[in-house]
Amino acid sequence: MIRVGINGFGRIGRILAREILKNPHFQLIEVNDIYDTKMMEYLLNQDSSYGNFKTNTTFKMTNCNDIKKLMWDNVDIVFECSGVYHKREELIWHIKNGAKKVILSAYSKELPTYIFGVNENKYRGEDIVSNSSCTANCTVPIFSIIDKYLGIDSAIITTIHSYTTDQNLLDNKNKDIRRARSATTNIIPLSSNVANATIEFLPHLRGKITAQSIRVPVTNGVLIDTNIKLSKKTSLTEIKKIIHTHTNPKISYISNDSFVSSDIKKMPYSNIIDEELIKLSKEDLLKLMLWQDNEYGYVSRLLDLAGIVISY
Ligand SMILES: NC(=O)c1ccc[n+]([C@@H]2O[C@H](COP(=O)([O-])OP(=O)(O)OC[C@H]3O[C@@H](n4cnc5c(N)ncnc54)[C@H](OP(=O)(O)O)[C@@H]3O)[C@@H](O)[C@H]2O)c1
Repeated sequence: MIRVGINGFGRIGRILAREILKNPHFQLIEVNDIYDTKMMEYLLNQDSSYGNFKTNTTFKMTNCNDIKKLMWDNVDIVFECSGVYHKREELIWHIKNGAKKVILSAYSKELPTYIFGVNENKYRGEDIVSNSSCTANCTVPIFSIIDKYLGIDSAIITTIHSYTTDQNLLDNKNKDIRRARSATTNIIPLSSNVANATIEFLPHLRGKITAQSIRVPVTNGVLIDTNIKLSKKTSLTEIKKIIHTHTNPKISYISNDSFVSSDIKKMPYSNIIDEELIKLSKEDLLKLMLWQDNEYGYVSRLLDLAGIVISY
């Protein structure tokens, strides 16, 4: 049984807690956030995206806003999901305070990073690791396959993303200028770190890949529009064959279901390749559209990475 703690009980923390509470291989020991436990319990049980949830399992709920003072009762893994801490010098406090391993639910420039389906078999026992971002989990496994079989010269990625809690419902001050604007009524261009996350795995793309996030007024789901300049000429038939042959069915689903965003809710995949939307221009400019449930799909990978980390 894997003893688990969660720091940051927001969207990712709560969806993760629900999955852990249902999974016989995990035991939820403690969750921490900066808001009161009544609210934490309420939001765990009622969720506008995923519906109601009930558990009879008890676990500790704490309200500590200082990572240095946050104590863990001999937990195997802390999932760091606050969105506040990304550096090893901060996350090491979880280890000092009773956790054996830490998995960060975000991209970090300085941590060893594992993306399931790409490099999880290279895990060598590090105590603090990153599961990268939701969009990197969606994109990098597919880019790795395309690069291996066709070569990628350059790419532009646009993540068409549901809004998140760091945006405002109505126009209001925010430290990021466009995040200040109403998320429910606007199409909002924001920055994306998926290009940097991709370069970690495909370093030859440094300076040749760029990304943009577009936040849209839906509560769940992401559609990643990738435009890839290939190193060699190919055909749609060959591309589809490569995708069907080399994607990992645990993390990738090839869809001919004419999905719209609400259809992919609660799908556990890192990427859902929309086969109907694959386009090729002049035999070497490839467009792939990749869906993901940015919450549930990502949480599924956090649990997979926990399994790898704990069984090392
Ligand atoms: N949402 C996604 O689609 C998604 C997907 C993959 C990865 N991620 C990453 O996962 C992380 C969390 O994202 P999220 O969407 O779950 O954010 P969220 O809903 O805002 O959750 C973060 C929670 O942590 C709390 N918190 C803030 N400071 C804290 C502290 N010092 N100690 C403990 N808790 C603290 C926040 O409280 P306040 O709200 O009061 O600040 C909030 O309840 C981010 O790094 C994000 O980039 C998000």
